[in-house]
Amino acid sequence: MSILVTGGAGFIGSNFVLDWLGLSDEPVINLDALTYAGNLENLASLKGDPRHVFVQGDIVDFDRVLGLLEAHEVRAVLNFAAESHVDRSIHGPGEFIQTNVVGAFNLLEAVRAYWVKLGTTERQKFRFLHVSTDEVYGSLDPAAAPFNETSRYEPNSPYSASKAASDHLVRAYHQTYGIPVLTTNCSNNYGPYQFPEKLIPLVIHNALSGKPLPIYGDGRQIRDWLYVTDHCSAIRRVLDAGRLGETYNVGGWNEKPNLEVVHGVCAILDELRPRKDAKSYAEQISFVKDRPGHDRRYAIDAGKLERELGWKPQESFETGIHKTVRWYLDHQQWVKNVTSGAYRDWIARQYIA
Ligand code: NAD
Ligand code: DAU
Repeated sequence: MSILVTGGAGFIGSNFVLDWLGLSDEPVINLDALTYAGNLENLASLKGDPRHVFVQGDIVDFDRVLGLLEAHEVRAVLNFAAESHVDRSIHGPGEFIQTNVVGAFNLLEAVRAYWVKLGTTERQKFRFLHVSTDEVYGSLDPAAAPFNETSRYEPNSPYSASKAASDHLVRAYHQTYGIPVLTTNCSNNYGPYQFPEKLIPLVIHNALSGKPLPIYGDGRQIRDWLYVTDHCSAIRRVLDAGRLGETYNVGGWNEKPNLEVVHGVCAILDELRPRKDAKSYAEQISFVKDRPGHDRRYAIDAGKLERELGWKPQESFETGIHKTVRWYLDHQQWVKNVTSGAYRDWIARQYIA
């Protein structure tokens, strides 16, 4: 038996694979298309490990997915594969529909073809876990209660709309075909191996490179921040004990305005790697034009996961952000390798053109 992880060379997927194989000997089949966001260097420590089978391929490829499910007697599929960057979805939504909607549909179809042929016990034990986002719920007013699992879907970007569509397909495959599905809707992750186009690694990288730290609009947008290994433990818990057909919100109970996050990162860098002129990195903060349709606030009520499955995050924002900044300082070669090529083209389009 094994699990199939899609998108396991990306930020959260690679953290999940590393954590999984640190805790269990159950093999991981890792299917990843290696888009600009996929990076096998994240998994370098697994080189030669027979428990990790990497397959470069697209979740849109039905035959490929079905072939892997059959060949490896897969007992669970965890779908991390996605186009995940909101700004990129504004510049080019097509790939988001292709991977996040058509890809999720294909995975579900391949799973359905495989699952109906399993014996009764294997069928009951099988799981399809879909990793989704809090962005499907749209934007919260400042005083509104955090999103819970019954909050209305009101996605505002092509990215969140594509994730919402995939969530609905997952639900429909449970209701219609009985596929044993689980969905997790998670807040903003941060931690090791995050591609430096997302806020926290971008700010660390730009600060150290002497570049501006771009803040969209007034910087008062609020996000809930979850350390990535807490997300991984939540997914394992839901996979083990989640109720079929249910959705679980995953969050860190860490609502913070973007400006506060950026000032926090600057303060840690000031302490660990002071600027040569002894000024604060916060001097590099630069307000830039806002993201179109920018959601003002996300907040997650992760109470269901705690009440039903006993899961709570282990990291506070303070401990998690210290670990994260330290990791990037200690892995400058990793940053250098990913900031060559495609990433540079993106920066030119988003911030300069
Ligand atoms: P990421 O962009 O870092 O990684 C995505 C991975 O998917 C990459 O390795 C990429 O190569 C792969 N991929 C893309 N298209 C593919 C395709 N068609 N077939 C196979 N592989 C493909 O994303 P992430 O931040 O690790 O996010 C993982 C999942 O978690 C996504 O589904 C995302 O929507 C969700 N999520 C992310 C966050 C966050 O803060 N990063 C929060 C909530 C939910
Ligand atoms: O909420 C979960 C989502 O979190 C995930 O579903 C997405 O996959 C993930 O990318 C993330 O989306 P965000 O849009 O919230 O993340 P990002 O890091 O792009 O931006 C975080 C906040 O910081 C957001 O309010 C926009 C702002 N921002 C971002 C960048 C890149 C800036 O102010 N400046 C920037 O340069």
